[in-house]
Amino acid sequence: MKVTIHIWDLPHRLFHWLLAASVVAAYVTAKIGGALIDWHGRIGIFILGLLIFRIVWGFIGSTHSRFVTFFPTFSRLSAYLKGRWEGIGHNPLGALSVIALLATLAVQVGTGLFANDDIAFQGPFFDFIDKDLSDKLTSWHNSSLNVLLGLIGLHLAAIVYYRAAKKTNLVKPMLTGKKEIPVALAEAIDAGHGNRAGGVRFALSLFISSTVTWGAAGGITQLSKITRITSPCCSFAWASGEITQQHQATAPATRQQQIAQAPASF
Ligand code: HEM
Ligand code: HEM
Repeated sequence: MKVTIHIWDLPHRLFHWLLAASVVAAYVTAKIGGALIDWHGRIGIFILGLLIFRIVWGFIGSTHSRFVTFFPTFSRLSAYLKGRWEGIGHNPLGALSVIALLATLAVQVGTGLFANDDIAFQGPFFDFIDKDLSDKLTSWHNSSLNVLLGLIGLHLAAIVYYRAAKKTNLVKPMLTGKKEIPVALAEAIDAGHGNRAGGVRFALSLFISSTVTWGAAGGITQLSKITRITSPCCSFAWASGEITQQHQATAPATRQQQIAQAPASF
C-alpha cells in the first residue's frame, strides 16, 4: 500500500523552477549579447538571490530541503551504493549532483560579479579589483560554464534514466510537492513530520536573500560612498574608496570612457 506525503515545500519548488528558467535566460542573453548583455547581468544577480535563498532555506527550511537531511556523507553514499539506503528526499548520489550544481552556480555567479567583456559591460564589483584579476575571473566565468552545462546535462539525463529504467517520476513531486511512497517506509522514517517550515522562516530567508541581491545590484557601492562621506575612518569605506581610486588612476583613458558609458547599476 502507498501513501501520499508532502515532500518539497512551495519555496523549494519555486526556487527550482525559477532557477532553471533564469539559468537558461542568463545563458541565452549572454550568447546573444548586444543590448541583451545588460539583462544577462540583471538575471545573473537574480540567480545570486536565488542561491542565497536556497542556502538559508537549506538551514531553516522544511525537513527535506535542509542540507543536513540529504548531505552526501561517505556513510550515506556507501549505504546507497550497497543498496541499503532508505529515504525519500534526494538520494545520496542525487544529493552529490545537487551540491555540485549549487557550488558551480555559485562560482559562475561569483566570478560574473567581477567579470568584464573588454568593451563596456562588467559585473557590479568590477571596480573593486584590478583589470588583470577581473580578466582572470572572466576566464573562470567562461570555463565554469562548461562544468555547469555538463552538470545540467547529467541532471537531465538522471531524470530521464529514473523515469525510463526505475519507473520513478521525479519531476511530478518537484511540480506538486507530493510523492507516493510505501506505507512501511513512511512509518519507518516518520515521513509526515516537519514538512512545512512556515511563513516566518520564509520571510526571513526572503529578507536575507533580497538584502544580498540589493547589495550586489549596486547597494554596496552606494552604501560605501555614503559611509565614506559620513565616516572617513570606516575601514570598509576606506578600502572600497581606495580601490576605486587606485583602479581609476591606473586605468587608461579609454577604459575610463568605457566605465563612464557603462550602465551605472543593474
Ligand atoms: C548562472 C549565472 C550565469 C551564467 C549561466 C552566465 C553565463 C555566461 C555566458 C554563457 C557568457 C558568455 C561567454 C561567451 O563569451 O561565450 C557570460 C559572459 C559574461 N557574464 Fe555571465 N553568467 C552568469 C552570471 C553572471 C553574473 C551574475 C554576472 C555579473 C553581474 C555576469 C557577467 C558576465 C560578463 C561581464 C560576461 C562577459 C565576459 C566575456 O565577454 O568574456 N554573469 N556569462
Ligand atoms: C538550467 C536547468 C536546471 C538547473 C540549473 C537545475 C538545478 C537543480 C537543482 C540545484 C536541484 C536541487 C534542488 C534543491 O534541493 O535545491 C534540482 C533538482 C531537481 N530538478 Fe532541476 N535543474 C534544471 C532543470 C530541470 C528540468 C528541466 C527538470 C525537469 C525536467 C528538472 C527537474 C528536477 C527534479 C525532478 C529535481 C529533484 C531531484 C530529486 O528528486 O532528487 N530540473 N535541479
